[in-house]
Amino acid sequence: MAAERSVGPRSVQPEGALAALLAEPNALPSLSRPSLVPQLMWLDTVDSTNAYATQRLDALSHGTFVVAKRQTGGRGRNGRSWHSPVGGIYMSAVVKSPPSCPPSAASGVLTLTMALAVCDGLDRLGMKPVLKWPNDVFVEGEKIAGVLAQATYEGGRLSSAVVGVGINVNTNREELSSVGRPATSVAVCLGRPQDARNLTYAVAERFLHRLGAAGYDGLRRDVLERMVGLEGPVVVATPRNTVRGRAMGLDEDFRLRVVDEAGRTHLISVGDACCSMA
Ligand code: BTN
Repeated sequence: MAAERSVGPRSVQPEGALAALLAEPNALPSLSRPSLVPQLMWLDTVDSTNAYATQRLDALSHGTFVVAKRQTGGRGRNGRSWHSPVGGIYMSAVVKSPPSCPPSAASGVLTLTMALAVCDGLDRLGMKPVLKWPNDVFVEGEKIAGVLAQATYEGGRLSSAVVGVGINVNTNREELSSVGRPATSVAVCLGRPQDARNLTYAVAERFLHRLGAAGYDGLRRDVLERMVGLEGPVVVATPRNTVRGRAMGLDEDFRLRVVDEAGRTHLISVGDACCSMA
């Protein structure tokens, strides 16, 4: 049974002229909604924060973040597990106010919004994070965080989602080596332990801020600025085949555009990409 403690009230209420503008539905057509202050629900041990949030989705409000000290059954993409010892951040955001984008883009928007929020948080610590499509954050050529978005659709439209993120914060080299892939942590990169709570809050706040910001063209621009491997050689293992070519950006649904040697364009929505980290 998980021990729970909820922290913090609340949404930020805009005041004065901004409140008046927001009260008028057509006044700011490009501003989807004001950002909320995150509500963090701190747990000790759960199987998976994504599973925990998904099972309680009806009871949890938009902007709730389920955070655990450790997970016993952390889930990664493509059926993989996510090693979750004490020292990392394991957090799942509840999204009930969908982003203003086509349903086909929603999963990519949510995943990359969280990945960028992680980058924002790591920037503040003086690190230089990059994104590897479709969901990874890397520092110094090694993975430091991954995102797993699980969306629910009703009538073809996104109705709600749980967006989970795992960040290696105070994870030591020995624990990282058990992941089986090159991985690093904030403490390893900076050479000293870090305050995981501050980073948790910063990432949650940046996620809601980015989600509430106008338009997803800005999101694509921010993603492309951070993305490694662009225009370079890439090998993508998809559920159906392996595609080799050059990564030529993202389409409007945040699918990876790969042009192969024969000049054919492949638009890939699901896959593991292998590219140069330069
Ligand atoms: C990946 O890179 O494969 C995605 C990893 C996502 C891990 C996080 S940890 C918090 C949340 N709960 C889970 O079970 N998974 C996500």
